[in-house]
Amino acid sequence: MAKGATVWFTGLPSSGKSTIAHKVEKLLREKGHRVEVFDGDVIRKNLCSELGFSKEDRDTNIKRIAFVCKLMTRNDVVAIAAAISPYRETRDYARKEIGKDFLEVYVRCPLSVCKDRDVKGLYKKALSGELKGFTGIDDPYEEPLNPELILHTDKESVEESVQRVMAELEKRRYL
Ligand code: ADX
Repeated sequence: MAKGATVWFTGLPSSGKSTIAHKVEKLLREKGHRVEVFDGDVIRKNLCSELGFSKEDRDTNIKRIAFVCKLMTRNDVVAIAAAISPYRETRDYARKEIGKDFLEVYVRCPLSVCKDRDVKGLYKKALSGELKGFTGIDDPYEEPLNPELILHTDKESVEESVQRVMAELEKRRYL
């Protein structure tokens, strides 16, 4: 029977978390794994629809996602979280809740590149002052100190990043 795990993608907006998460999801499904993706943007439309972007609300968002990931993981599902999760302490809370089957994947990308990508046009709004408290501009992002894996999405192709996640899961005997 396949083992459950939580693959927790963290990184700046537009760093590539969702794109990589969904491609990993597809590959895992093709291999017969049970998988669920918890994408911050989607979760904030249902499970966390009342939350905003204060530190307190972001922490609540992450703690709820961690809770659901924990339930998935213990039922042999691969839970994939794709949320900025900007605070180290809150990511460490998720790690502690989920235990040994938690893999933190830092989707690393320089702020300048994320700004240029600006997938949703939100950096532009934040830079013009129209949007306040945007991660990377006027809200913090605390880099992971000791993640299981670091992806460099400014240098690697999406496919390379995806393959590196799959290789890490294989190395840790989840595949
Ligand atoms: S987290 O900080 O609580 O982990 P999460 O990943 O769920 O954030 O949501 C981030 C998404 O919300 C972004 O991709 C963006 O589309 C949207 N968003 C809206 N306002 C903000 C903001 N102030 N900071 C960051 N993201 C924001």
